[in-house]
Amino acid sequence: MSTAKPSDQPHDWQNTSSLPSHPEPYKIKMVEPIHLPDRAERELILQEAGLNVFNVPADRVFIDLLTDSGTGAMSEHQWASLMEGDESYAGSTSFHRLKASVQEIMGFEYMLPTHQGRAAENVLHSVLVHDGDIIPGNSHFDTTKAHIEFRHAHAVDCTVDECFVPDVEIPFKGNVDLDKLREVVDQTGVEKIPFVLITVTNNSGGGQPVSLQNVRDVHAFCQERGLRLVIDAARFAENAWFIQQREPGQGDRTVREIAKEMFSYADAATMSAKKDAIVNMGGLLCMRSEELYTQCSSFNILFEGYLTYGGLSGRDMEALATGLYEGTEEDYLAARIGQVKRFGDSLTEAGIPIVRPPGGHAIYVDAKSFLPHLDQEQFPAQALVCELYLEGGIRGVEIGTVLADRDPDTGKNRPPKLELMRMTIPRRVYTDNHLQYVRDVLVTLRDRRESIRGLKFTYEPPILRHFRARFEWE
Ligand code: F0G
Repeated sequence: MSTAKPSDQPHDWQNTSSLPSHPEPYKIKMVEPIHLPDRAERELILQEAGLNVFNVPADRVFIDLLTDSGTGAMSEHQWASLMEGDESYAGSTSFHRLKASVQEIMGFEYMLPTHQGRAAENVLHSVLVHDGDIIPGNSHFDTTKAHIEFRHAHAVDCTVDECFVPDVEIPFKGNVDLDKLREVVDQTGVEKIPFVLITVTNNSGGGQPVSLQNVRDVHAFCQERGLRLVIDAARFAENAWFIQQREPGQGDRTVREIAKEMFSYADAATMSAKKDAIVNMGGLLCMRSEELYTQCSSFNILFEGYLTYGGLSGRDMEALATGLYEGTEEDYLAARIGQVKRFGDSLTEAGIPIVRPPGGHAIYVDAKSFLPHLDQEQFPAQALVCELYLEGGIRGVEIGTVLADRDPDTGKNRPPKLELMRMTIPRRVYTDNHLQYVRDVLVTLRDRRESIRGLKFTYEPPILRHFRARFEWE
């Protein structure tokens, strides 16, 4: 089934009327039972978890919207691909198939398989990032930022201001602000900037897309200054789909053509394949230059594994190669992003404050507006995550002050501009009925929101604290 495309007029970007009713281009062959523990059990489980849902056993979660990472349902073709995995240590045919699929879909000549996205970041940053460096970009993801800060370098956020205003509806809220980028580069000097990073879609900023024009402009600027451009490609297919639907002049191109042009501007890309390649594990480090590939190869062998398997088994590489094709199919993308949009619109209709417009992979509740009686230092988004579990057995995730960690220089909390609870939609897993239930639970919470209390730490790990922190109610 082909997807209808809007006209190329800029004012039409929200008129994606083909979207909401686009059905899933698959049917369900196998199901996995889920169970809602009763309220008393949920209270006990959350207390034992230290009010941190990362510590809640998955079989005690009814609807799991913690992440879209590695939680998608593989297709029958991907499961069949597993049987064709070549587990040779060197020169595996599965590696060559993966390499060919990366060349075809992403257009990169060189590729190293890694066990997941952060491993690709680790290898690339081992070569490029040094003490005192600055990496400008659009809302770096937390593992990316952690890899930068681990090397005593700094991530500087140059996302457009609109990204930080939840109810502003513009088509490409994930864009890099060229003025901010220019200012950082002028102040820092190019010698301290190993690369500029564009994350597509912008996960930390609400799953919002970056326009093709913005990628072109950032690339032109990088060329002018002699800077490398790197793309964090975790959700590149969803980003390319938004470009096709919303960007003037792109409506008649295929998602794959758009994606390939996007990547053509990058010197390298890291990818968590657990998102848009719809595998449960896997990552990619893609490069254009042989020199960079040679430098990265040593670290890949050291941290991940030999060049032709890296962090993956042959069967994983097979499923990944198949997934790169499936994840860029347009009817699949229309159904997926349509589901997220329907869910988001239903929350807006019910008066729940969310980041607008709905992003590609998740809906983000604006916790500051939802819980106006709480101060940001009382972790309102984390408090909301706890209540969502208590009320409905649903697991979301905090993208707010806890996730932001402390400033490594000052040791102080650094409350981000947006304090969000993300409800991430796994690919090909839940139906609209599941999401309607989530909406109903949120409406109940909204109606008793004055009863929701803030939190404080009882244990705070030094970095990436949101995974292991423990809290109590104030
Ligand atoms: N970059 C982005 C934009 C991501 O969203 C993630 C992971 C990574 C890099 C790291 O990849 O997990 O494979 O090592 N995001 C997940 C999430 C964990 O829940 O958003 P990874």
